[in-house]
Amino acid sequence: MSVDTASRADRAEELRNALVDTIIADHEAKGLTMPTEVERAMRTVPREVFTPGVPLEKAYENTAVITNRRGDEATSSVSAPYLIAEMLGQASDALGGLEGRDVLEIGSGGYNASLLAEIVGPAGSVTTIDIDPEVTDRATACLKKAGYNDVTVVCADAEHPVEPSRRFDLVIVTAGAWDIPPAWREQLTSDGVLVVPLRTFGMTRSWALRRSEDHLVSHSHRQCGFVSVQGDGAHQMRYVDIADGVHLRLDEGQQTAPDVLSDMVAGILTQPRREAWAGVSLPPRTVLADLDLWLAARLTREAGEFVILTAQEAAVESGIVAPSWRFGAPATLDEGTFSYRSALRWTDRKFDLGAYAHGPEAAAAAGRMVEHMRAWLDAGSPSPALQILPARTPTGELPDGTVLDKRHSRIVLTFPTVNSG
Ligand SMILES: C[S@@+](CC[C@H](N)C(=O)[O-])C[C@H]1O[C@@H](n2cnc3c(N)ncnc32)[C@H](O)[C@@H]1O
Repeated sequence: MSVDTASRADRAEELRNALVDTIIADHEAKGLTMPTEVERAMRTVPREVFTPGVPLEKAYENTAVITNRRGDEATSSVSAPYLIAEMLGQASDALGGLEGRDVLEIGSGGYNASLLAEIVGPAGSVTTIDIDPEVTDRATACLKKAGYNDVTVVCADAEHPVEPSRRFDLVIVTAGAWDIPPAWREQLTSDGVLVVPLRTFGMTRSWALRRSEDHLVSHSHRQCGFVSVQGDGAHQMRYVDIADGVHLRLDEGQQTAPDVLSDMVAGILTQPRREAWAGVSLPPRTVLADLDLWLAARLTREAGEFVILTAQEAAVESGIVAPSWRFGAPATLDEGTFSYRSALRWTDRKFDLGAYAHGPEAAAAAGRMVEHMRAWLDAGSPSPALQILPARTPTGELPDGTVLDKRHSRIVLTFPTVNSG
């Protein structure tokens, strides 16, 4: 090895260990523990091999590295290390360890497959599948370069089984899915685990789901974002413009067509704004990720449409909207009245939760939304749980909860600690 190669390898190891230390600290701040087997793999696999052409320092940033685009949209990336660590942690916790397991990874790149190969060891196996031949060619070359010769790389649409009779202990999906095709469940062993970034109500969470006969039951969830699934399982989100740089995202089988919604909301933000506040005083580190799914579950049961509000930075700066998060705030449209979860209101380093509304019933709509926020806090800020059943399941056989119908599945969302469904 030349002196240059040796010093680059030393520098890479230094950066890798610093990155893992950062991710462990980030896990601790979120109340998570990184399993030892995941930590060991992350301190071993050279991420720079899977990000060719990217400077060493960048290869060890805690962010995704985009590798393929179609127009403006990213279609493939080497996923963000903290997210990979969280998803591997979800898999390890749900299965009680991954050593010796047979794993199918959906969405290739090589980096995550190498981590999995390190973790499952020689007694296990890793198969990785991607729809894009450019990605599988690159993954094959990078895996070889990094010395992971036992990983099987397949180029196909993972909507369908990779090998009809093959079963895996773990199927881990690394692209954003809207539904769970039957093949993902059917390729699992009888108590195998599926880890999947799944969109429900327009919001993506990485869910660890354990198989139980023909359905899946959640074990854990984490907040995340991913490039979307392509191929037969692709599901386009639709957008309705409501002002310059302000959009509504429609993700489920919304009954009202986008052009009708568009007419309904034309000029809505120019109508006077009404606001309502929960009247609470929460400390800075309060985690609100589960509140938005709670709101979705509650608001979809009421009249009107549940939608997601997104806004460009300039639109927020101009004050036309003030959403809780500009990349996706829960919102409703009901007979010409539009309401959404607003930005937090800070007083003396504590914050309150609020809702803004425009339209004929604005005051009532904002008030209803904050009632649901108060109810979530009063219930002890419960976390959501999912059950995923085949689309053919009769309604009478569904557990209590909020039902979301997709193409292949009926998804039931509950908040178990409050026994309220
Ligand atoms: C975020 S990247 C995967 C990252 C990778 N796991 C890593 O180690 O960093 C998502 C990948 O999913 C792939 N993908 C999207 N839809 C797919 C499908 N239906 N079947 C297989 N692969 C798919 C994309 O081509 C893309 O390469």
